[in-house]
Amino acid sequence: MERNAPSLQALPLPDVVKIVEVGPRDGLQNEARHVPAAVKVQLINRLSEAGFANIEAASFVSPKWVPQMADGAEVMGAIARRTGTAYSALTPNMKGFEAALAAGADEAVIFGAASEAFSQRNINCSVAESISRFEPVAAAAKAAGLRLRASISCALGCPYEGEIAIEKVAEVVSRMRDLGCDEIDIADTIGVGTPLRTQAVMNAAAQVFPRERLAGHFHDTYGQALPNILASLQVGIRIFHASVAGLGGCPYAKGASGNVATEDLLYMLHGMGIHTGIDLGQVIQAGAFISEAIGRPYGSRVGKALLERNCQQQGA
Ligand code: HMG
Ligand code: MG
Repeated sequence: MERNAPSLQALPLPDVVKIVEVGPRDGLQNEARHVPAAVKVQLINRLSEAGFANIEAASFVSPKWVPQMADGAEVMGAIARRTGTAYSALTPNMKGFEAALAAGADEAVIFGAASEAFSQRNINCSVAESISRFEPVAAAAKAAGLRLRASISCALGCPYEGEIAIEKVAEVVSRMRDLGCDEIDIADTIGVGTPLRTQAVMNAAAQVFPRERLAGHFHDTYGQALPNILASLQVGIRIFHASVAGLGGCPYAKGASGNVATEDLLYMLHGMGIHTGIDLGQVIQAGAFISEAIGRPYGSRVGKALLERNCQQQGA
């Protein structure tokens, strides 16, 4: 008997994609050794110069929970702000929001989860409690004229609960929508998702929130981030997160690696004729800079290949 094989949906590709650079926050938050504020500032400045419209610059969370992000105010106070770049900050509660506002964040990011267990481990409350905690933050962000974004962790799987029901993801998207979010991130925190499931989750989220304001936030632990981004593009998603040099991991998702490397994503998009407004060469320089500064091997395959090619050409 013939198998009723599933197939990927394939809508026409867009001309333009927005990339949110999350390296300075998601990329660095998990570094055990303190990264000096001056290094974070230089990284953000280099990324600004590369042309990103949105950089996640800091996190105003409890320093006991994530010590690496404790210098958010110092970092945001010292960066050279580029016109055309919005600088975002994570704000789990009013204390975080007030600090982010004082530091001049353009966008407040509330972050919840589609998994109860992850919500408890990451922000010390249930999903329902987190939404109540976000209500005043959302209202204050709107009142202050800031953009409001929500991130939904574990939308494609949880390190504690395993598979997460698609209906649960859509329900959390609805709650975040009701808070007035301008943008909502569907996050694969531990990078376990595969393309068909990704399309199904994106389509379910798009039933309750405008598709053009959904973003894909894919960690690359299982090497699925680029295929999942391609699958998302093919169902009309136009915003993606990426981390320069592929830096990162989540302190509350042991073993999870960084987001897709920005350099690799840019190479794929530009190779398909999709505009991002971002200079790949400058991102590679920023990636090489931060990798050296924190003593890690440079984690972008595209970056490594192009640096190597340049060296060979100069030597020839
Ligand atoms: P809690 O302990 O339940 O909070 O933590 P609390 O209100 O009881 O406060 C406890 C202490 O923290 C108090 O200090 C507060 O003042 C302080 P104490 O009196 O003990 O000295 N505190 C704060 N300090 C600074 N800034 C604040 C703040 N709030 C409280 N905003 C809380 C609850 C949410 C604060 C805590 O669980 C926390 O900070 N969690 C953050 C965890 C985190 O940052 N995780 C990584 C980012 S999320 C992520 O990476 C996923 C994402 O990339 C998407 C994906 O990939 O899935 C976005
Ligand atoms: Mg993340």
